[in-house]
Amino acid sequence: MTIRIDYSNMLSGNVPGGIDEATWAAAHDRFADARRVFAERRSAGELGFIELVEGDDSVTELRHFADGVGQAFNDVVVLGIGGSALGTIALRSALRSNHWNELDDEARDFFPRLHVLDNVDPTTVASLLDRLDLGSTLFIVISKSGSTAETMAQYLIVRGRLEADLPDGLQRHLVFITDPEHGALRALARAEGIVSLEVPQNVGGRYSVLSPVGLLPAALIGVDVPSLLAGGRDMAARCESDALSSNPAGVFAMLQWLADTRLGMGIQVLMPYSDALSDMGDWFVQLWAESLGKLHNGTEPVGPTPLAAVGATDQHSKVQLFMEGPRNKTVTFVSVGELERDLEIPHLHLDVPELSYLGGHRLGELLDVERRATAGALAMRGRPNMTIALDKVDEWHVGGLIVLLESAAIYSGALYGIDPLDQPGVELGKRFTYAMLGRADADDARLEWEKLPSSDPRWIL
Ligand code: PA5
Repeated sequence: MTIRIDYSNMLSGNVPGGIDEATWAAAHDRFADARRVFAERRSAGELGFIELVEGDDSVTELRHFADGVGQAFNDVVVLGIGGSALGTIALRSALRSNHWNELDDEARDFFPRLHVLDNVDPTTVASLLDRLDLGSTLFIVISKSGSTAETMAQYLIVRGRLEADLPDGLQRHLVFITDPEHGALRALARAEGIVSLEVPQNVGGRYSVLSPVGLLPAALIGVDVPSLLAGGRDMAARCESDALSSNPAGVFAMLQWLADTRLGMGIQVLMPYSDALSDMGDWFVQLWAESLGKLHNGTEPVGPTPLAAVGATDQHSKVQLFMEGPRNKTVTFVSVGELERDLEIPHLHLDVPELSYLGGHRLGELLDVERRATAGALAMRGRPNMTIALDKVDEWHVGGLIVLLESAAIYSGALYGIDPLDQPGVELGKRFTYAMLGRADADDARLEWEKLPSSDPRWIL
């Protein structure tokens, strides 16, 4: 079991205009600084996501809940947004059968369906609530801050339905996952005796998938949590190596940073050749965007732009842009060695050359050959790319991939000279929302909002 990175196609030896050997050699010294920042933050207890892989008492507690009370429900609904939702979606797609929620009970081994409401689009929320039998549904409300408007609005709607339909014992249908001390959800959990789990204070939303935030929903649908953490643990140890050449997160971060800052390739694509990993792409985009898009020294905007793609599907969409559009992108493929299932293509239409050559090959082989062909073609056109190779898509490898990319975000933050753990840029919009909806403590934001130049809309009618 291993996760490897082939970065030969990032270097100028393979790719015209790629990172030259002298720059790559010099990067080892630059990495030493980033490594020091990482180690200092780790010693200061700021990198809580790494501690999660050790699996503390909360893991025992959540597995106990999932195996016991949790299995009384046919449907589990996560209410959350951003880092409180995307990791769970990625775990469900990667580690459960395709179209999990559409399978019958037997095909799901009698584990519940898992829905994640990660938006407040009323059409989606209403149609899910209309389909559910509340009596057999568990709602997991996830918010680190305990106050995010979208999640709280979802909760209030669900609470209203529960109060109307199941006034006695509605608490049985709720679990809160939130800060150990602060926020409205924590206070409500205490006041009403609602089952609650903690997001450790040193773990931010987008780094929380291996905390109860992702692990409780995953355990409820039968994901092997110890194996997920074991994969994360193995990778965490590798990502603390002082030597760049043996540090996967360091190599990933350093190559992407060099591509952005030396080659002007600041659009960074993650492209798994696996439908099961397609939602990992969205999780990565949030991790990378919210961690690295920042003001350096409070004034200079920095940060790469992440993009998700899926092979082979996007070979018929975004790959044209990657191949011939502006030379401002890197592509990281994720390859999978052993597929969960494979299909042989039958020898049919032997007299039709466009079809007959496919006979006898397997679909998995076609997928892998297409990845290799795309990587080679990109390299030939001077488009740097690399490949993260997983032996298979299982808990161990997914846990490892998560910790690899999370750790890389920390090294990247050090290289860009910004804090990858905060997200000040989203605060102002949140405060304006509170002001417009009349939240009592949003007077300052209301005053700021009123200072905006009011301009008449310019509609084209
Ligand atoms: O990664 C982050 O910090 C954010 O995307 C948060 O997860 C998101 O804003 C939701 O916040 P909360 O969990 O406090 O509701």
